[in-house]
Amino acid sequence: MTAETMPTIEDVRTKLVVELEQTDSPEQILKRPELKQLYSQISSLPAEERAEFGQGVNQLKSELEQLVAARLAAAKTAAKPAIDVTAPTDVNAPLPQPLPTSQGSLHPVTTELRKVTDIFMRMGFDVVESRLIDDDYHVFGSLNFPDDHPARDDYDTFMTTDGLIAPPHTSTMQNRVLKEYKSRLENDGPISVVVPGRVFRNEDLDARHEHTFTQVEGVYVGRGVTVGNLIATLTTLLEEYYGQKLETRITPFYFPFTEPSFEFSLSCPFCSEGCSVCSYEGWIELLGCGMIHPNVLREAGIDSEEFTGFAWGFGVERLVMMKHNIEDIRHFHSSKLNFLEQF
Ligand code: DAH
Repeated sequence: MTAETMPTIEDVRTKLVVELEQTDSPEQILKRPELKQLYSQISSLPAEERAEFGQGVNQLKSELEQLVAARLAAAKTAAKPAIDVTAPTDVNAPLPQPLPTSQGSLHPVTTELRKVTDIFMRMGFDVVESRLIDDDYHVFGSLNFPDDHPARDDYDTFMTTDGLIAPPHTSTMQNRVLKEYKSRLENDGPISVVVPGRVFRNEDLDARHEHTFTQVEGVYVGRGVTVGNLIATLTTLLEEYYGQKLETRITPFYFPFTEPSFEFSLSCPFCSEGCSVCSYEGWIELLGCGMIHPNVLREAGIDSEEFTGFAWGFGVERLVMMKHNIEDIRHFHSSKLNFLEQF
């Protein structure tokens, strides 16, 4: 190459800066042959020009390094658009190429739900999945909700024109679980089952309320089962899950399917004197629970004189929000990669 055909520092700068703006792998710019060629030109220059040219090449390199670093940093923080999983595909267009699965990850609710069910399995519970559509008998009737009882209003959800219901709670599985596992009682064992599932509510949406969320129901029945067993079971779950000792509190509540019924709260893990997470009360209401109502046991064919049991239902998202300090429940279904990539 003659001196006239050799690219100048300025030529290389212009070319690489444009390429840098267009490329998806900015770091590759620093390995371009044009840059290497500038370095190799130094030795062919007259001695008096070498120092100045060398400095110029070094300066170009450090400018490019800074631009590359800025591009990488911007890419990291850039808001990525949400993926619209409901977007229709045009059947006449070529099918979109799926992303390689190595780029995906489990949803945080899935990961945390696995941890929760793992803890219950180690405590001896079986796991039965809930269902996405059910009938009035399982959602309400078998759970001691009389027809037209106002307690039904707390479970406002979605219904098909055939009268099928998108379950507003995983309690919809209680009657089935009690029937399916009651032979255990005859063999002197307990019924001990947890039921994870999606539930649906016709809610006004805000930072704490979603139309679709995840619950874990628990059912335990045996001889001589008491409120003490209920408290011990839930405290063990929460202390395992949060990995620290917690203070818990139960306060009276009302559910048609338990008697007595309670709300179970735990001392706020974020503060000692009060903070915005616990509304400055020091306690966070976490779940509903109670001793299974004799009518619910009888409805499943279990002798309520001989056997007693407890049940609970909690929202997984709320548990996860407290663990990871997530301020808005709507993030979970937003499909925003910026949120999901943090887990
Ligand atoms: N199903 C109730 C709800 O979603 C939660 C619940 C409360 C479940 C008490 C239970 C229970 O099994 O015993 O609000």
